[in-house]
Amino acid sequence: MKPLVNKIVCIGAGYVGGPTMAVIADRCPDIDVTVLDLNEARIAAWNSEELPIYEPGLAAVVSRARGRNLRFVGQPEGAAHVAAADAVFISVNTPTKTEGEGAGKASDLRYVESCAHFIAAHATGHTIVIEKSTMPVRAANRIKSILASARPGVTFDILSNPEFLAEGTAIRDLEQPDRVLIGGERPEAIQALAAVYTRWVPAARVLSTGLWSAELSKLVANAFLAQRVSSINSISALCEVTGADVEEVAEVVGTDSRIGPKFLRASVGFGGSCFQKDLLSLIYISESYGLTEVAAYWQQVVDLNQWQKRRFADLIAAPIADDAGSLRGRRIAILGFAFKKDTNDVRETPAIDVCRRLLARGASLIVHDYKVTAEAVSAELGARGVEFALSPEEALKDVAAVAVLTEWPAYATLDWGRLSARLKPRTVVFDGRNILDAAAVRRAGLFLRCIGKGAPHDR
Ligand code: UDX
Ligand code: ADP
Repeated sequence: MKPLVNKIVCIGAGYVGGPTMAVIADRCPDIDVTVLDLNEARIAAWNSEELPIYEPGLAAVVSRARGRNLRFVGQPEGAAHVAAADAVFISVNTPTKTEGEGAGKASDLRYVESCAHFIAAHATGHTIVIEKSTMPVRAANRIKSILASARPGVTFDILSNPEFLAEGTAIRDLEQPDRVLIGGERPEAIQALAAVYTRWVPAARVLSTGLWSAELSKLVANAFLAQRVSSINSISALCEVTGADVEEVAEVVGTDSRIGPKFLRASVGFGGSCFQKDLLSLIYISESYGLTEVAAYWQQVVDLNQWQKRRFADLIAAPIADDAGSLRGRRIAILGFAFKKDTNDVRETPAIDVCRRLLARGASLIVHDYKVTAEAVSAELGARGVEFALSPEEALKDVAAVAVLTEWPAYATLDWGRLSARLKPRTVVFDGRNILDAAAVRRAGLFLRCIGKGAPHDR
């Protein structure tokens, strides 16, 4: 049997499923694409002009395909589409488990398992089931055993097709991927899915591997990227005490073609829904195979990230705390709450840990972000001691310190000459992303501390 993919269903209309299906539908007008989700409010938003996620370029892609060959539906309506589908993507969340075996490390597969039950109940004929969500290695076996409960005569292929898009650049990453990875057991099934991607991706960039290699590769790719960030962040601390400049060091190190220049930006720490979760999953898998040293090696990447966030919060606190170390009565402006620019996503954003640490020491905060809403901030931090500002200017009112936590480009062009009128002379501005115009901040009579750079008078 040679499967062909003409009708696609994607279960999960989140940061991965939504943009991925929008691009497939945009690039393949003859393929019928249905995205379904349990969350009816999210589906309603996908069907409106106010999409549920912010992603540059997404609205244009959705508006071209929606109503033509792309639709967003709730779960009840989705059942009939699963029955008719040639391929069903599973693109639901796989968060870190909070209870039971592996709590705090292992990925929680309950949403994936519930998708597999849904597919088993509704599929007809032959269906290719595709893992799009990041899974622990050998997760396909769990899906297979659930699919085995389908009616007699209903058959499946399972493929692993992990997503490598990064938020903020999702559309570009989907339209021009470095590679598309398809892991599977039957070459015909791999070919059927490859034929979808090769409509716009050069065939040489479509890699095929075994199922377990594909599942593991996704975890490893994220672990390596996170490791680079923790590596440069560890060096940022060393730069601050030695007077070296982490940007200069990163530039020199990155010009070695064996190392490369990307993912060497020192920061307040990495965040997002993938890095920590995937590292913890890799650590748990290593431990469960008795590979203690391997687990400890990757654990250090997570620990360094936690340390960097604590270190930055303490750096902000140091010059403004009272003699007892308390920040009571001190107001701090937080510029940026998203885990990176060009997204409204706050999952695992370093801002959460930095802000919580400052709040725990008694500070009050005034938070600004260009895309994160006041509701999303208070969902993470609570309302006590936290205000939300609609502009950077508004955030700077009556504050003892200013901290930049997200690299929104608009922060780089702030007019510090004008803003300094709102601040006391020599107020400390902490740049956790090295994006501010350092000369302008200093000219305005403010005191600048950058991640990975000693203060000028220290040098
Ligand atoms: C990541 C992977 O890049 C992507 O391939 C995968 O599919 C999902 O996980 P994402 O989490 O969206 O994507 O963002 P990414 O650009 O990787 O950034 C992750 C975090 O690292 C952000 O908080 C970012 O600010 C931080 N980072 C990144 C740095 O601090 N320094 C850098 O040099 C790069
Ligand atoms: P990701 O970043 O991996 O896309 P999100 O949390 O943004 O993760 O999106 C996952 C989506 O999957 C959510 O909108 C959630 O409601 C949906 N979801 C989870 N389980 C199911 C399920 N069994 N059936 C349908 N949708 C589901």
